[in-house]
Amino acid sequence: MAGRVEGKVAFITGAARGQGRSHAVRLAEEGADIIAVDICEQIESNPYPLATEEDLAETAKLVEKLDRRIVTVKADVRDRSQLQAALDEGLAALGHLDIVVANAGILPMAMGDPHASDFVDAVDVDLVGVMNAVAVSMPHLGKQASVVITGSTAAMLPNTTDNPAMGPGSAGYGWAKKTLMGYSEQLALHLAPEFIRVNVIHPTNVNTHLLHNDGLYSMFRPDLENPTREDVEPAFTMFQAMPIPYVETVDISNAVLFFASDESRYITGQQLRVDAGSLLKMPGGPTNM
Ligand SMILES: NC(=O)c1ccc[n+]([C@@H]2O[C@H](COP(=O)([O-])OP(=O)(O)OC[C@H]3O[C@@H](n4cnc5c(N)ncnc54)[C@H](O)[C@@H]3O)[C@@H](O)[C@H]2O)c1
Repeated sequence: MAGRVEGKVAFITGAARGQGRSHAVRLAEEGADIIAVDICEQIESNPYPLATEEDLAETAKLVEKLDRRIVTVKADVRDRSQLQAALDEGLAALGHLDIVVANAGILPMAMGDPHASDFVDAVDVDLVGVMNAVAVSMPHLGKQASVVITGSTAAMLPNTTDNPAMGPGSAGYGWAKKTLMGYSEQLALHLAPEFIRVNVIHPTNVNTHLLHNDGLYSMFRPDLENPTREDVEPAFTMFQAMPIPYVETVDISNAVLFFASDESRYITGQQLRVDAGSLLKMPGGPTNM
């Protein structure tokens, strides 16, 4: 039986680990070939280590195990020329482009010594990086192509965008993710006549490095000196209406797959929460945000 994205090629940013790797594997399971990029280097303001070249090689191994082709390139989404070169390399090997998954992201929530550059770095990666991925892909997108952007429920939580106590890094993160909502709607509108779709997925907590790091643990449990995963899980669980601390990467990948496949051919400009009901817990619910 043909896969749900059989014969399509997907360009995925931040694909060395976490959600990006999971998207690469899930799309490959359903018949897609993959162009995978990742910075594979540290960004100084980010309090937890970003992915490595070994991580990106592991993604390649997992996709190849599924008998799909993959081109991996080390590239920084903040640098449009690097992304252009990465995509060109992928296109030379795989021939065409059908799916863009703009997923790379950082959360520079510096503990102790926040700096305005945290805001700048968050916006550069989480907003400009998405726009760069879209920009380089645009000339190659044909009818039925699909752009899937990773947002965050942070885009919809007032506290994460306008609360100075959150610090410049998380303010930048929230503002970037919120701005992506308007950006994606405009883009969807202008691409609709060409039958190209643009949708945003907004995850709640996901079981990845972005969530599991000492900085975030300390923010959730300031009462403890070295909080562990067990210490923070009850606090993480408070976010969702369903009693879980976080969703798994495959839960986001399944939504990516739907938007990437022709099953969603007339669905565009959507903001899809994969959040185990977390926004339902906000006063007034999501419809009043
Ligand atoms: N984990 C969560 O709780 C959560 C919740 C909501 C939204 N998100 C979003 O999900 C997306 C994926 O994050 P994740 O949870 O898999 O975390 P992650 O840290 O495991 O993965 C992010 C990947 O992006 C890469 N990356 C970072 N900056 C880059 C750059 N400038 N250029 C290229 N690659 C870069 C990293 O190296 C890493 O491989 C992000 O956009 C994030 O904001 C995460």
